[in-house]
Amino acid sequence: MFSTTFIAAAVAMSSVLQPSAGLVFRRTVNCDNILDWKPNTQYTAGNQTVFTNELWTATQWSYNNPPYDAANEWSLDGSCSVPRPPVKVSCQGIAAWNKQTQYDGGSKVTYNGDLWYAPNWVSSNVPGDKSGSWVEEGVCTN
Ligand SMILES: *[C@@H]1O[C@H](CO)[C@@H](O)[C@H](O)[C@H]1NC(C)=O
Repeated sequence: MFSTTFIAAAVAMSSVLQPSAGLVFRRTVNCDNILDWKPNTQYTAGNQTVFTNELWTATQWSYNNPPYDAANEWSLDGSCSVPRPPVKVSCQGIAAWNKQTQYDGGSKVTYNGDLWYAPNWVSSNVPGDKSGSWVEEGVCTN
């Protein structure tokens, strides 16, 4: 059974639709006050987070699995109506990503001028690809 509040919220959320990749239409949602996804943080069912400018809700306990479509631990609520500005970070001493290297969880690399973090072991996945293996931590200032 749905409450009136839930229906009102659902109607409000679905009233703004925007095209995204392919023929999928993605809701635009308000991400104010929702924290960016963080590694080494436990999320439980119902927790919300923002990852790559999208709002996600944990469907179950989740740890070091960044939200993305293939992960069963998160459901996508929609794209943030106000995109977040990139965080600026120092990349001093961080090596560039290398396709031949196997990275342990906790590794950091630079790629295309950004700093990336791997929560889990990763081999050939490219930072920024749809696997979500790499989490962007910010834009390198140096
Ligand atoms: C998850 O939700 C619980 C209950 O509301 C809250 O106490 C906790 O801080 C949330 N955790 C995160 C990482 O958002």
